[in-house]
Amino acid sequence: MANTILIGAQWGDEGKGKIIDVLTERADLVVRSQGGANAGHTVRVGKKQYVLHLIPSGILRPRKRCIIGNGVVIDPVSLVRELDGLKRHKVNVKGRLFISDKAHIVMPYHRAIEACAENLKGKNKIGTTLRGIGPAYGDKIARTGLRLADLVDAKKFEARLRDRLRDANRIIRALGGKGLSFKKINDDYRKAARRLAPFVANTTRMVHDALDAKKEILFEGAQGTYLDIDQGTYPFVTSSNTTSGGACTGSGLPPNRVDHVLGVLKAYTTRVGSGPFPTEDDSIGEMLHNMGREFGATTGRPRRCGWFDAVATRQAVQVNGIDQLAVTNIDGLDKLAEIKICTGYKLGGKTLDYVPTDAEDIECVKPVYQTFPGWQCDTSAVTDWKKLPLKARRYTQALSKLIGAKIIIASVGPARSQTMFL
Ligand code: GDP
Ligand code: IMO
Ligand code: MG
Repeated sequence: MANTILIGAQWGDEGKGKIIDVLTERADLVVRSQGGANAGHTVRVGKKQYVLHLIPSGILRPRKRCIIGNGVVIDPVSLVRELDGLKRHKVNVKGRLFISDKAHIVMPYHRAIEACAENLKGKNKIGTTLRGIGPAYGDKIARTGLRLADLVDAKKFEARLRDRLRDANRIIRALGGKGLSFKKINDDYRKAARRLAPFVANTTRMVHDALDAKKEILFEGAQGTYLDIDQGTYPFVTSSNTTSGGACTGSGLPPNRVDHVLGVLKAYTTRVGSGPFPTEDDSIGEMLHNMGREFGATTGRPRRCGWFDAVATRQAVQVNGIDQLAVTNIDGLDKLAEIKICTGYKLGGKTLDYVPTDAEDIECVKPVYQTFPGWQCDTSAVTDWKKLPLKARRYTQALSKLIGAKIIIASVGPARSQTMFL
């Protein structure tokens, strides 16, 4: 049985939720290990569409078990809302969902601090999802965070909240915001704690029990390689390790038990929020937006769109150890007469085959493109790789060759049936 870490190889929204859902059919356990409710993973099941933020996408397959690992930052109120949504759709999570007692909690003051900080940055803002992610991870690293284990212990939580809120309110006021009330937070979080308590568990232990029992585990990455706090386009990144190492630290998985790293990528590129994006091209964005596509699953913002960037994704293959690829949204290119792939960057008279460190340098690179003929027909009903138009296969295989990993899945639509195994 193979354990697979699934990673976004671009700037997030690569279609991870869809691919996880497809692969969960044969997995036993699905584990989220970083990020928080900034993620929005869309899964289509029949006519229904679900957007999952904190709960692993595997939850939509009956009887499969799901873990929210220690590396995730959890907004308890948002998680309860997500559980309510699943309940309305009659998805039973009892005995199938487990939340790490070590996971840190996103507090209302994290969101308030983030809103003030983003506001003060003006045109230099990161364009975050305003879900409190950065300040929550900040508290974790500063060793001032509250964890799920604290939340379920009413006395401990009250004392720690009182202590932390005093400092947090000082920061909020210094940033020009309004201090928050202890009572409101305590009441809301006590209520959420009662609902979440039955799910809280030692999930590190559960991962190891599953490894010992030779169960197949899928690690569901959130965000993407270039939003990684270390490997991404800093400072226009999120605050966690979105690359494959994050799956280990965020769940207790030992690195030597990883069998595969599956990189999910779109056949083009998208990005939400500010920051450098070398292959951004408004014309492809306009075409996709006119088709009703590429609006953020969490914030509804239109995603920025551009050509496939083989320089960035080749580097993503390296830093994650990606050995398998799932290429999604091939159908998004169906209408184009010509399609471009960026194979190098020009910067200051030099040609680069890597992504520079400084965001300002990345802003300045000029992509070198290779042009491919478009297939100009509808691929969304194709269910067999060999029946995909030759030009579409050539384009997709060129991506794989340029970045150095083999394609095992090709996707031409959001539904489970629109998935081809190679
Ligand atoms: P994630 O964050 O990586 O899970 O991706 P999102 O759910 O935020 O965004 C991906 C979007 O593309 C969702 O609306 C999916 O339903 C959709 N999607 C995934 N694969 C395909 C595909 O092959 N074709 C089309 N048309 N849509 C896809
Ligand atoms: P999934 O899992 C795309 C982006 C935000 C912003 C930056 C920092 O659905 O692929 P944050 O709120 O994390 O501090 O914002 O990261 N971002 C995402 N972009 N997909 C995501 O998740 C994202 N999660 C965060 O837009 O630019
Ligand atoms: Mg998303």
